[in-house]
Amino acid sequence: MDRTPLKILMVAPELAPLIKVGGLADVVGALSKALAAKGHDVRIVIPKYAALRHDETEHPLDQPLVVHLGGHEAYARVWEMRLPGSAATCYLLEHNQFFDRASVYVGPSGDESDNGRRFTFLSRAAIDLCHHMSWVPDVVHCHDWTTGLVPVYLNTTERNTPLGRAASIMTLHNMQHQGWFPHSLLDYSGLPGSVYRADGLESAGELNMLKGGIYHATKITTVSPTYAREIQEPAGGCGLHQLLRYRAGDLIGVTNGVDYSEWDPATDPLLPQNYSLEDMSGKAVCKAALQQAFDLEVNPHIPLFTVVSRLVDQKGLDLLAAIGDRLMATMQIQVAILGTGDPVLEYLFRSLAERHPGRFAAHIGFDNKLAHLLPAGGDFLVMPSRFEPCGLSQLYAMIYGAPPIVRATGGLIDTVEPYVEGEGAGTGFPFNDATPDALYNTIGWACATYYDRPDEFIQLQQNGMSRNYAWDESAARYEAIYDWAIDARRGAFSSAIE
Ligand code: ADP
Ligand code: GLC
Repeated sequence: MDRTPLKILMVAPELAPLIKVGGLADVVGALSKALAAKGHDVRIVIPKYAALRHDETEHPLDQPLVVHLGGHEAYARVWEMRLPGSAATCYLLEHNQFFDRASVYVGPSGDESDNGRRFTFLSRAAIDLCHHMSWVPDVVHCHDWTTGLVPVYLNTTERNTPLGRAASIMTLHNMQHQGWFPHSLLDYSGLPGSVYRADGLESAGELNMLKGGIYHATKITTVSPTYAREIQEPAGGCGLHQLLRYRAGDLIGVTNGVDYSEWDPATDPLLPQNYSLEDMSGKAVCKAALQQAFDLEVNPHIPLFTVVSRLVDQKGLDLLAAIGDRLMATMQIQVAILGTGDPVLEYLFRSLAERHPGRFAAHIGFDNKLAHLLPAGGDFLVMPSRFEPCGLSQLYAMIYGAPPIVRATGGLIDTVEPYVEGEGAGTGFPFNDATPDALYNTIGWACATYYDRPDEFIQLQQNGMSRNYAWDESAARYEAIYDWAIDARRGAFSSAIE
């Protein structure tokens, strides 16, 4: 390593491949791997959920961890393990009341009422773990609202401890979720009352964890340059655009990458047959396997449009549900959907599948193996997001030779190059309006490209497959941001002492 290695603490609610709800898990896992591969000392703290994937390297620390909350102490058993395929270390916090449950964000009876205490506990425990191990990170990298209190602790209760010198990074994966809780959570947290104010944790009479993180972090990042601009506008900032404008000089967008050790059609062990640009024959095998798995007519000639997504408002899949019957009536295509979330959308897709057997199929659930098979067997991916901070599904689709149909927003603008008809340039089909008609017309355009301009369709596939979305470049940018944050933090510290 030709530079001084950094001590980096990641604090996150999800981490691939151990526990995953969405792309945040992929990013924390892949970025940690990439940084550890560069020689940095990377340690990751996450809760030990019931659904967590186990590993033979997992073992408990000798002593229980004492977590210093407001007016009381709580305890966690800490398990240490290697991040699979990496030199990074994971610390799993065992606390049965808070984390021994199947879901990351929702309680056993579907309610989220103890999320404030759960994620305050995670944030405080991450700090107490550093004290416990006498390990002082150079930088603490926090991900989304669940970790928003970490920078607040570093600036307050920790300011005069060795940890007070650590720089903090707040990465914004999604502004829609901010972690709003009653003011009383402050007592539980042990933070001083002074942080509860308009230029801190308070927002419209409640405690807002993400706001606290944005306000107190040394530097702020988000997951694409376009989203970094969008969140400074009212529509994208979800109420925090003014704070983000105020902190604009400390805010930077870094586009997510892909972990090719998990997502590469040439080596992916989850596919029935591998394939690559040089030999695409395996993709036809994957298409047949996908059609079979989804009870679609096994036919190599019909274009197969796929979806792999959380079924939530953000993803704009209600637009697809609205045109499902029209698509089936007017186009010779198949649709295969993998997703879970909003019960109304789940119902709409199930009903479409019942009305159009063999042509429209929906698998409602979370299934990692199918999430790999869909971009491999599919000819296109549909991702009509209303907003998209970065998006990973479209990157996987491009690498697997399934050009994505995307709404031109956020990271989808930064990652999908528009198809140029007649030239075969580009990697996908962006469209502007979040309307059923715009999506319908764009799917029609993709369908016509498949049938009428097969050479250009193949060219599009090849363009996406030959792009390089590896983490190297983005990990190097994070390294530079860490250096920037560390300089700023230490500078602030020495000028305060002088
Ligand atoms: P988001 O993080 O907003 O959900 P991304 O596109 O960044 O969107 O990442 C989504 C990730 O979650 C991808 O890795 C995708 O394969 C995965 N995923 C989404 N839905 C499912 C599902 N139902 N089953 C398995 N994996 C899924
Ligand atoms: C969020 C965003 C998604 C992004 C992911 C990882 O879940 O919705 O766009 O790719 O985080 O950063």
